[in-house]
Amino acid sequence: MSTTPERTGSADTSISGAEIVLDNVVKRYPGQKTTAVDSLSLTIPAGEIVMFVGPSGCGKTTSLKMINRLIEPTSGTIRIDGEDVLTQSENDLRRRIGYVIQGGSLFPHMSVAKNIAIVPKLLGWDSSRITKRTDELLELVGLDPSRYRDRYPRELSGGQQQRVGVARGLAADPPVVLMDEPFGAVDPITRQRLQDELLSIQRELHKTIVCVTHDIDEAIKLGDRILILQDGAQIAQYDTPEVILGAPAGEFVEDFVGSGSALKQLSLTRISEIALRTPTTATVGERTDDVRRRAESNGDMAVIVLDGRGRPCGWPWLRQLTGEKLVEPTEELINLDHRATLNDALDTMLSSSHGAAVVTGDRDQYLGVVDFRSVTEHIRMLEEQAARD
Ligand SMILES: Nc1ncnc2c1ncn2[C@@H]1O[C@H](COP(=O)(O)OP(=O)(O)O)[C@@H](O)[C@H]1O
Ligand SMILES: [Mg+2]
Repeated sequence: MSTTPERTGSADTSISGAEIVLDNVVKRYPGQKTTAVDSLSLTIPAGEIVMFVGPSGCGKTTSLKMINRLIEPTSGTIRIDGEDVLTQSENDLRRRIGYVIQGGSLFPHMSVAKNIAIVPKLLGWDSSRITKRTDELLELVGLDPSRYRDRYPRELSGGQQQRVGVARGLAADPPVVLMDEPFGAVDPITRQRLQDELLSIQRELHKTIVCVTHDIDEAIKLGDRILILQDGAQIAQYDTPEVILGAPAGEFVEDFVGSGSALKQLSLTRISEIALRTPTTATVGERTDDVRRRAESNGDMAVIVLDGRGRPCGWPWLRQLTGEKLVEPTEELINLDHRATLNDALDTMLSSSHGAAVVTGDRDQYLGVVDFRSVTEHIRMLEEQAARD
């Protein structure tokens, strides 16, 4: 099997993330009065996404960078699957730990493919294996390899650059991926898409992902667990989003999450958990008069157009349906992934002329529509629940 490039460093392609254990980790920067990280002990379970949140300067980045030794701890130990990172070679660490930072931080003079290939190249992979892996990763992060592999970073949008940054972090298929405010530099709709993509990638790959963010909504959405830190990387609470919202461990956490209001709970509810509306749909190439009749008898003012593979490709109003056949509208639809939260749904609806958003499932399959009414009904239900408790 020597000529076949493997997907992972090991022969087992179902391999999941590795457990990370921090034990009394301390970081004192020279010349600083206060200790940046004052004895942090923490277990990050294999295959989970753990979000580090907390006020600026509390030690999130320092804690993260000690895991891949971009910063050396003053004392304490960090183990990945039982092995002390301080005893590992630079190559081992690069192979085992991917790193993604804000904006993707791509090298401007290198093509997209070259940027993604940095770590594989350092690890001495042969060029056919690198090419195959680069294309595979571009697919994974939703960029068509033939269109994007030879572009330069300046020829990409901010969101696309960030996608390439994620691909680069995953290049050597590391069990652990560290991310520092990865989606901080993009607009809210793009950020939401990147978050949804990360969740869908993670469902496939089961990495251990440690992600720093200053955005509690992002932490609630992405995290299996959230670590809330105070100054000196003191743990204020380390638990699931549900517990942190439902039972904040004190005033600091309460203030930080902004208390468990119904609106915050919107970040906990996935679109997939609520009932979707199912307005009239049509298939590309259908006769417009048939479709109009169907929509009118359903009392709909607009129809959702699906392509031959059941993916939404347009949302015209009835008055726009003229002529013999249905045409695909030129404007791109902003779809909501079913893993998106109700909070995301509100953002997307606000930017839609329909005051609603089309929801898609795996492989962009059409599932239905979420509108303001479905969200407000859900809020009302949460409020009633809260009043009962
Ligand atoms: N290279 C450095 N030299 C000296 N002090 C630093 C350095 N990096 C961070 N610090 C200090 O350490 C503390 C924690 O910083 P950091 O880990 O970057 O926090 P966060 O990522 O939570 O904003 C802050 O007080 C910061 O000023
Ligand atoms: Mg930071």
